[in-house]
Amino acid sequence: MLQWKDLYDDCLSCYKCDIGNKRNNMVFGDGNPKAKLMFIGEAPGADEDRIGVPFVGKAGQLLTKALIALNLNREKDYYICNICKCRPDNNRTPCEEEAKNCLPYLRNQVALVKPRIIVCLGATAMKYILGDQWKITRDRGKWIERKGFYITLTFHPSAILRDDSKKRLFWEDLKSVQRKYNEIC
Ligand code: URA
Repeated sequence: MLQWKDLYDDCLSCYKCDIGNKRNNMVFGDGNPKAKLMFIGEAPGADEDRIGVPFVGKAGQLLTKALIALNLNREKDYYICNICKCRPDNNRTPCEEEAKNCLPYLRNQVALVKPRIIVCLGATAMKYILGDQWKITRDRGKWIERKGFYITLTFHPSAILRDDSKKRLFWEDLKSVQRKYNEIC
């Protein structure tokens, strides 16, 4: 297992995929690296690629605000990162090869943070963390205990921006995360 600096440097010098050659910034992760709560999204969007920080665009702001309302703050309570560290062109879903090239970095991040709770944001995070058999609309809000982690899944915040009817369920899922956090962390 690499320590933070070596892991960061490895990501920075990674050009395994085409999107690595096209990025403006590698988007590593943000928040408290010792947090007991970890959120995992899909891949950086345009704002994240420009700034180099995950979840700072519209979807990220929505998530950050919702979590602040639940008294969960990025600097203190959680760490947040993505399946892929580089932005796929036109915000497409990362392809299997891109996700698989990047997963060892994520596994190393998880090993370093040692969270008790992992929240998968959206279908891509769900697929590569939990597997193909899960479905966001059917399984969101469920809790799975695996390898010592409590894992749950919910909509990606960009889905909430597109479809207002998902807002209530998203909020319920985040409240469930808050309850679990208060219970075990
Ligand atoms: N969407 C993601 O999945 N991650 C980000 O960092 C930004 C938008």
